[in-house]
Amino acid sequence: VDITVHASGGNKTSDMPYGLMHEDINNAGDGGLYAELIRNRAFQGSSRYPVSLSGWTSINGARLSIKNSSSPLSEALPSSMTVARSRNTTASKPIGFANAGFWGMDVRKQEYKGSFYVKGGYHGTFTASLQSALTNESFGSVEVRSHSRPAEWVQHNFTLVPTKDAPNGNNTFAITFDPSGCDGGSLEFNLISLFPPTYKGRENGFRIDIAEAFAALNPKFLRFPGGNALEGPDLANPWKWNETIGPLKNRPGRPGVWGYQTTDGFGLVEYLNWCTDMGLEPILGIWAGLALDGGYINQTDLGPWVEDALNEIEFIRGDASTTYGALRASLGYPEPWPLKYVEVGNEDWLGGGVAGYDSYMDYRFPMFKDAIEAAYPDIQIIASPSVYDNMTIPLPAAGDYHPYRMPDDFYNEFHKFDNLTADNLTLVGEFAATHVNGGIRWAGNLSAFPWWIGGVAEAIFMISSERNGDRILGATYAPLLRNMNRWQWSVCMVEFEADTRKTTFSTSWHVFKLIATHAISHTLPTSPAAGNTTSLFWVAGMGEGGGKRVWKGANYNTTGGADTDVRVAFEGIEEGARAELTVLTGTDGPWGYNDPATGGNVVEERVREVWAGRGGVFEFGMPELSVGVLEVGGS
Ligand code: AHR
Repeated sequence: VDITVHASGGNKTSDMPYGLMHEDINNAGDGGLYAELIRNRAFQGSSRYPVSLSGWTSINGARLSIKNSSSPLSEALPSSMTVARSRNTTASKPIGFANAGFWGMDVRKQEYKGSFYVKGGYHGTFTASLQSALTNESFGSVEVRSHSRPAEWVQHNFTLVPTKDAPNGNNTFAITFDPSGCDGGSLEFNLISLFPPTYKGRENGFRIDIAEAFAALNPKFLRFPGGNALEGPDLANPWKWNETIGPLKNRPGRPGVWGYQTTDGFGLVEYLNWCTDMGLEPILGIWAGLALDGGYINQTDLGPWVEDALNEIEFIRGDASTTYGALRASLGYPEPWPLKYVEVGNEDWLGGGVAGYDSYMDYRFPMFKDAIEAAYPDIQIIASPSVYDNMTIPLPAAGDYHPYRMPDDFYNEFHKFDNLTADNLTLVGEFAATHVNGGIRWAGNLSAFPWWIGGVAEAIFMISSERNGDRILGATYAPLLRNMNRWQWSVCMVEFEADTRKTTFSTSWHVFKLIATHAISHTLPTSPAAGNTTSLFWVAGMGEGGGKRVWKGANYNTTGGADTDVRVAFEGIEEGARAELTVLTGTDGPWGYNDPATGGNVVEERVREVWAGRGGVFEFGMPELSVGVLEVGGS
């Protein structure tokens, strides 16, 4: 295939071509990116997920029970754990409790910061320790002097530095105490928390390895709290921003939509700090009054929710003289965060023809749009459907398109975005290859993991969106994360397991990284112009920051045989010029995947220098099912 990349023409592309989308699914938040190690730390529950002692076990026969006290730690956290000695307690030994974490706990020789609240008179010390769940070997412990008082909740803080790394992740955290020092023979505990070092050292922050895996993708925006998690399982439980801020003891948590209670320790401020720490443009999702069980807030009752959205926006970007800006400042954030994008709802085209629920474009979206535009004319409003969902998006709003596809679909839909007009600004707020070719799509299962041909097809999709980067606001894969011990959605970019300490970067992560870290800021026209031959797909442009010229391609040839010969000439680049060529291939065929059980990687990356031959032509082969980037020039 002979391709000429012209030196001028094309169009400026979005300056946030790729980003991240996060929601608490598969324990991607609690027990995932959120670095808290203690599961069920504050005995939060709901009618859907009743309060329980899940995650906790007793030490030395201690009797553990849930207490709903008349004087709880806070209104938000009404339940606590009573710890008392029992007939099975050995009198000479301390009693206590252990937590198994989010199905394991990574213990290393590093500083852990912990805290817990106690109610009850106790004279003595608490011992906080980390140990093996298999052998009880202690890796480190610290004595915490009691400040507790009979009828008061008193917080205790400690720092724990293990003396050695644990050999695996099968560990627990324990607190023990001498029951003979208790006034009434028992103590109440709540909000028991333990954090390892966090990304950029943030208090209440993120797991470093997972945050770094996302940062490596060169993301430019964060869509949050993305997906179904915004909407809530029913009308009583959407994601409520004002219940996710402030001290942890004031956050009640809520029944999530993915089968578990969330703590909301990972709340609005944590999302915004994430944006600060990775330089991401926030795309804030606000609830449109539609719940996943089909419930909806009708037109006459929607006003307070529109007001609530305005309050949330003021909390984020209002100055400290405003009501909600002052609230933010009181939490230690005097400076506003920038906010230029607000999305109303999530996938609200899925009404299924049900009256009321299908009201999105009738009155729902217009009410939010009009109010936000009036107060914040510079904010780009995004509707949760797109022009691909049989909806007209009222200008100047953008739409949001979520293609979850078979690989062949991405191949066949390569030119789908070419017809977008300047008025069809579109965010791709979620995309992924989810179903195998020839299958029964949503009537069947998702693929077990991202797999190689799916990744190549995603590259084709990303190339198609970059070709139209003046109308595609940006694109993000979803979901991003899966805790292998509890999951609801199998095809995720990164998988991890606390007990085996394995974090797996899927085939899709490798593809996304290659494409997104070579972002272009301006497309350059090519000849042939179509951007594809039968199996080879490409886009070309000026590299991010200028200076470099980039060609990206994906070869969807699945029939084997010889590599596809590619000859790329950049106008103005002469014979002898040097370029870097990176090519990804799958070492285990189209169905190969990176298996979290084995930690194996089926993606082979080859980086090599190539030099322009006669006529300034770079010549190379693209193997079957491969993704490549050729980058020339610049410093
Ligand atoms: O990404 C998983 C889910 O897929 C999201 O929650 C939802 O928006 C979409 O249907």
